[in-house]
Amino acid sequence: MRCFLVFLALAIIPVVAWAETVQERAAPCLACHGESGRSEIENTPSLGGQQPAYVLIQLYMFREKMRTFDIMNEMAKDLTDDDLRAFSDHIGTLKNPPPPDDAGDPMRMLQAQDLAQRYRCNACHNVDFAGRDNVPRIANQREDYLAKTMREYKDNSRRGYDATMADVLQSVTDQQILDLAYYIARVR
Ligand code: HEC
Ligand code: HEC
Repeated sequence: MRCFLVFLALAIIPVVAWAETVQERAAPCLACHGESGRSEIENTPSLGGQQPAYVLIQLYMFREKMRTFDIMNEMAKDLTDDDLRAFSDHIGTLKNPPPPDDAGDPMRMLQAQDLAQRYRCNACHNVDFAGRDNVPRIANQREDYLAKTMREYKDNSRRGYDATMADVLQSVTDQQILDLAYYIARVR
């Protein structure tokens, strides 16, 4: 019996210790990205409900400086592959950011919904914009970050894992980018 208990303790303790470590290690990340999964900081993306496969690829790209942003390149530079996986799984457990109280101007929302259909955004990002696998959740993401990052795909200063988003945004005007960001940030 005692032998069995020792075995049990050895099997369980490392898992518990690791779980605490991930949460502790994610605390500085969430100081910027929002503890509850919703970011309160300008141009800083909410991570709640983000697709783990997408997060894993982005952290890898920050580490390898394929996606460049000084703070994130610094944060990711010493992470091992196991760390990347632990962070992305942990982020996947945070709650989706809720839609903002401001439901938006109905005309602008409708026009942007048309645009999203015309450019088939939901073919990849899902009808509810929750994303899947390596396609990110964009529903209720911060409006400022959405606009910033779409502009960066379009002018190629943000490199994607592949060229999909640069291609998609090729014929989308800057005003349309702002309208899409307005709509997607408020989608319900
Ligand atoms: C000082 C603030 C700050 C800290 C600390 C920080 N981040 Fe970030 N993070 C940012 C900003 C700002 C961006 C947006 C970069 C851009 O505009 O391309 C970002 C981007 C990301 C992205 C990409 C999100 C997306 O939607 O594409 C992930 C994933 C991420 N951070 C995870 C982490 C993790 C994990 C940590 C801790 C190891 C961390 N961040 C620490 C500010 C921070
Ligand atoms: C063919 C599939 C496809 C289509 C169509 C598509 N996307 Fe994407 N989108 C992706 C993929 C894949 C990524 C991740 C790319 C990367 O590695 O950076 C992405 C990334 C994004 C991001 C970055 C999110 C973040 O957290 O940083 C935004 C914003 C976005 N897409 C908005 C849109 C909008 C708006 C449309 C329609 C105008 C659209 N996408 C159409 C596949 C698609």
